[in-house]
Amino acid sequence: MTDLLSSLRPDESWHGEGVLHLPGFADAPALWDALQPVLKAARFRHLVTPGGKTMSVLMTNCGEVGWVSDRSGYRYDRLDPMSGRPWPDMPDAFRTVAQRAAAAFGAGGFDPDACLINCYDVGARLTAHQDRDEQDTTQPVVSVSLGLPGRFVIGGKQRSGPKQTVLLEHGDALVFGRSARLAYHGVLPVKAGTHDMTGTRRISLTFRKAG
Ligand code: SIN
Ligand code: FE2
Repeated sequence: MTDLLSSLRPDESWHGEGVLHLPGFADAPALWDALQPVLKAARFRHLVTPGGKTMSVLMTNCGEVGWVSDRSGYRYDRLDPMSGRPWPDMPDAFRTVAQRAAAAFGAGGFDPDACLINCYDVGARLTAHQDRDEQDTTQPVVSVSLGLPGRFVIGGKQRSGPKQTVLLEHGDALVFGRSARLAYHGVLPVKAGTHDMTGTRRISLTFRKAG
């Protein structure tokens, strides 16, 4: 009997058309260069969840709006609450890679207005959540990874149930949308290691159309 599962590459498993993994898709050095002035203008910080927990991931944003969390909830905000200023502009290199990845997913015309920048030191993780603070969930989410590998876990619309793990390496892009747009997902604790570009960290750029 043919073993159907072993004939599937990991990224073609049950999620099918809702998730697209694009290994080595991004021009990582160009993204890294563009990231530096953004980080000077809007420093990484640990956000607090509405429940009062400090997140292990460091976050900042660029683009018209940025995703923030505090004791009052999650929201997109035009201003960086730490500086009171607008978020730095989204660099062209960022927008371009997000649009190229979305086009590969079949979502031509994706026009992100928000880029969440996550920094995972060794051991940092992101617990399972849905991305549902955006107005139009027909738009996909594009995540681009730099530095240490991340183990991205994605399930279904319920918190419980089957999940798959996608190893996101330096320069990889991952797009999720359509049937997986409201799928629960998270990132397992980043394993110890050192990367030439980022040192002991994983950085991800997550592009969304928020408004
Ligand atoms: C996220 O789910 O918001 C970020 C995922 C990632 O770091 O790749
Ligand atoms: Fe997310």
